[in-house]
Amino acid sequence: MNDNQISNMNTNDDTDYTPSLGQGAAHSKIILMGEHAVVYGVPAIAMPFKVASVSVKITPSKTNRSRLESDYYSGPISLMPDHMANLKRVIELMLDSFNLPEQALYYHIESNIPIGRGMGSSAAVSVAIARAIADFYDVDLSDYQLQLIVNQGEVIAHESTSGLDTLMSSTNDPVMYQKSEQPVPFSLNLKAFLILADSGIEGQTKKAVASVRQLLEERPKFVKEALNSIERFVKLGYQAILNKDVNELGRLLTYNHYYLNQLGVSHPTLDRIIQAAWYAGALGAKLTGGGLGGCAIALAETAKDAELIAEAMEIAGAKQTWILNLESE
Ligand code: MEV
Repeated sequence: MNDNQISNMNTNDDTDYTPSLGQGAAHSKIILMGEHAVVYGVPAIAMPFKVASVSVKITPSKTNRSRLESDYYSGPISLMPDHMANLKRVIELMLDSFNLPEQALYYHIESNIPIGRGMGSSAAVSVAIARAIADFYDVDLSDYQLQLIVNQGEVIAHESTSGLDTLMSSTNDPVMYQKSEQPVPFSLNLKAFLILADSGIEGQTKKAVASVRQLLEERPKFVKEALNSIERFVKLGYQAILNKDVNELGRLLTYNHYYLNQLGVSHPTLDRIIQAAWYAGALGAKLTGGGLGGCAIALAETAKDAELIAEAMEIAGAKQTWILNLESE
């Protein structure tokens, strides 16, 4: 936005200027392996899921207060409900960090990322908002600054965060990720299909992350052993991807689920959906994301298998399924 537009805004006359626009976008993600363990420094493998995405548009507000409009809340930013405190924090941090002028803005959010399904909705909305603010004010926002700011919102949303959701909502490649390390992008390019199944049950990442932390305090040996096993599986899983060994990858997904279950972050409906995938011939299946609801993934060798597996997952309770051809990812 230029000076002329700012001074036009100050005249409070909507007729003699074209409102400038800030736009930002981000997408969803799928964690293939390593969720929860990644909070404790174990590597994780994740990929962007662009079918589910969010876009944010910002214009000067016609009222004297900043307002936000979305499917879940419409009203002044100052009155946003507690569960949106992360977005408020990201807006404050963007404005403060870049010394941006105080002015009433109108934020319009459009998203088809289901909330609370372990698909990284909170990070994606925050990333899209931060990018829209940067665009509106013509600020150069580096990836590093974006991650720092959004992760501070994520700490509010999820209690503690590995930073994986933030990274995945703003990156275009699958990555091998380890907290505080440079992510390693790679191309999946596997002759296989991934089924993503939404249990329809709202997952609770914050509660799940807190419960693993509590279990670590209560049974440190057990949890550390589980984290070590997950670490081994993730590293073998990455090797299997590089070797294009989809059978081995499937096996490791299933082992990973076993340990997530042991850590108490699965859900009976998720377990039912995952079991249905195994019985329908999946190479492997597991929960994905924060758990306690949310989504499951399954790996299939052929498109036909993937369809049968998706159908079995739906019969077992999945409300929606997506099939991704991993040869093009
Ligand atoms: C949530 O999508 C992934 C978790 O590992 C939390 C995190 O990495 O911050 C459960």
